[in-house]
Amino acid sequence: MADNTSLGAAKSAKNDEFYTQYSDIEAEMNAYVGDNPDVFRGKTILLPCDDPEWSNFTKYFATNFERFGLKKLISTSYAKGAGNKQLTLFEEESPLYDAKKHKTKGKLFTLTRDKDKSGNIDTDDIEFTGYLKGDGDFRSKEVCKLRDEADIIITNPPFSLFREFLAWIMEAKKQFVIIGNQNAITYKEVFPLLQSNEIWLGAPFPSGNAYFNVPEGADVSVYAKGVYDPATKQLHFRNCRWFTNLDYGARHELLMLDTMEHNLKFNKKLKKKLEYDFGSNVYPSYDNYDAMEVPFTECIPSDYEGIIGVPVTFLDKYNPEQFEIVGRDGDLDLSIQYDFFTPPSDEDASKYKKANKTWRIQNAYFVKDGKAKTSYKRLFIKRR
Ligand SMILES: C[S@@+](CC[C@H](N)C(=O)[O-])C[C@H]1O[C@@H](n2cnc3c(N)ncnc32)[C@H](O)[C@@H]1O
Repeated sequence: MADNTSLGAAKSAKNDEFYTQYSDIEAEMNAYVGDNPDVFRGKTILLPCDDPEWSNFTKYFATNFERFGLKKLISTSYAKGAGNKQLTLFEEESPLYDAKKHKTKGKLFTLTRDKDKSGNIDTDDIEFTGYLKGDGDFRSKEVCKLRDEADIIITNPPFSLFREFLAWIMEAKKQFVIIGNQNAITYKEVFPLLQSNEIWLGAPFPSGNAYFNVPEGADVSVYAKGVYDPATKQLHFRNCRWFTNLDYGARHELLMLDTMEHNLKFNKKLKKKLEYDFGSNVYPSYDNYDAMEVPFTECIPSDYEGIIGVPVTFLDKYNPEQFEIVGRDGDLDLSIQYDFFTPPSDEDASKYKKANKTWRIQNAYFVKDGKAKTSYKRLFIKRR
């Protein structure tokens, strides 16, 4: 819980200054390159919201420039970002260096050639190509132009602007790999793209744990207790995900499932949960959706053909050849379009609302002893 709260706080305080670890970038890119060694071959990659001083994205792709057969690497920094306050050697040693512009303008770095004639194209060959006209905002005309030139956009963007950032990529029809908050899955602008398999989740962070570096002087008081570790100067989030439209093998692996009877007989975690929540040993159904509740992804029965409600973390295991996403709860505009949504009578609705002000008609709920109990957020899926 604390972790979710902390990301929420990061969003509202617009504290976007946390930096991705090299090892996390490497692990994620391995998922794509492992399946298709040529995935980046001949491509121009844009790393916006970045800066070589801080960005492990720039370091990672510069180091692997030749191995991946990249055509061009473009990295832009944002003047208002913490990273921009640092002066990089690439900038300082350049004849283009301007102390005044350093503070107010975004910067452009490129990598295309063996500039230092060392025999390899690597980090030493990154070129400070000059200052941008503006502050490096990804929405500016000049960064849009760089986006249009690129084939693939890869970054950890400002979480507070995630919706806009994804729309900015999609409108240009680019390939991408970006980090976001797990809550983005249910955003109005994001869910339809996941549902239509235009985008999906990337390989998960190791054991679901994402650690980010925080620059010196950043205000860490906005994060919940325990999220910032002063010893490592890192934040620990459990609800970060990679979002992408690059394919990788693991998303086509079949989720191995057992029958309903076996789950109810042998799965201790499920039995305990059903007993605790419902006092029974059956998969319950929602009152407002014609769907069966499955509280844990691994307990999806292999022999059930109807619609089921699963936690949003199901998406980490989602194989589009095995399941179809038919909807989600929590959005009345969507629910009223589903033929498996049946709102309660006005009388029941006012009774439930009276008993619990936070009760909502569109949130999946169960009825027990005349009382409505709202479920956790659910995605609705169906076997293919
Ligand atoms: C979560 S940090 C990640 C930094 C870097 N991409 C990384 O992963 O190490 C997001 C960065 O986006 C920058 N940023 C915020 N608003 C921006 C905007 N409108 N345009 C471009 N960058 C922005 C922030 O200053 C911050 O450095």
